[in-house]
Amino acid sequence: MGKDLTKVTNTVFVCNGGTCKKNGAEENTRELRCAIKMAGLHEVTHTVKTLCQGQCENAPVLFLNPEGGWYKRMTAETIDEFVKQKLISHTGFDDHRLFKEGWTTMLAAKTIEPKTHDELTHHCDEHAGDVYGAVIYPWEHNVYPLLKEIFMVYRDTLTIYYRNQVLNSAAFQLTYKDGRAQIRGNIASEALEVVMAAPRESEYFLYKVSKVKLYQKADAFNGIYLMNSKQGIFLRVEWRSGSDFWNHLVDNYVMISG
Ligand code: FES
Repeated sequence: MGKDLTKVTNTVFVCNGGTCKKNGAEENTRELRCAIKMAGLHEVTHTVKTLCQGQCENAPVLFLNPEGGWYKRMTAETIDEFVKQKLISHTGFDDHRLFKEGWTTMLAAKTIEPKTHDELTHHCDEHAGDVYGAVIYPWEHNVYPLLKEIFMVYRDTLTIYYRNQVLNSAAFQLTYKDGRAQIRGNIASEALEVVMAAPRESEYFLYKVSKVKLYQKADAFNGIYLMNSKQGIFLRVEWRSGSDFWNHLVDNYVMISG
C-alpha cells in the first residue's frame, strides 16, 4: 500500500541522476530512508528519488519541500545531520545550503558561467564549412527538445544525413525511451536512433551524443550536427529558415546558463 499522504509534512526529493549517482546518491538515499525510519519520522516524511535536478555541479543534491530548500554535496554522514537538523530540530544545516526559495543568490559549490553571444563565431568548421555557429551543451534535456523542435517545425524541408547516408523521407516522428530518441520516417530503413543518456559502464556509452553544433551558413541554411566518440558525426540536419527561428534556437539552446 502506498504512503498515506494526508500525514506527510515533509517531502525530500533526492536526486539520483547520473552525476549524483556517481557521487554517492544511492548510498545517500538508503541512509536517508534508514535515518528517517530510525527517527520515527517515516509516516510524516516522504522521500522521492528523482532524475537529474539540473544542479550537477553541486552533486549530490536534494530538495526539501515545503521548506523550499536545496542542499548540495550531500554524503552519508551529512545525511544523518540533515535528518537531525532539518527534520527533527528544524534548525540550520547551513554548510550544505545551496539555495532557498526567496534568496537572490545561490551558494553553489562550483559555478559554471552561462554561455553568451560570444560563443557564436564565424569560422571554418571541418565538417560544415564556413559557418556562423557554436557548440552547445550535449545534455539530453538540451538536445532532445532541440531535435524535437527541428523535426516538428521544419520536418518537411529537412535534409538529413545519417551515418553518411542522405535520407529523403518527410513527416518524421520523434519518440523517446530509455535515454534514446528514435526518429522514424515513412520508410522503415530510415529509422534513426540518437543515444542521449547512457551510464559510463553501459554498452551504449560510446554512442552517446558528446558534441552538438548549431550553425548558420551564408546561403541561409541552418544546421546542426551531432557527434559521439564511436562514430564521429553520425547525424547532420540542414534546413532553410528565416532569422526568427534561428534566433529562437540560439536563445533557447546556446545561451543557456550552466
Ligand atoms: S544528476 Fe543530480 S543534479 Fe544532475
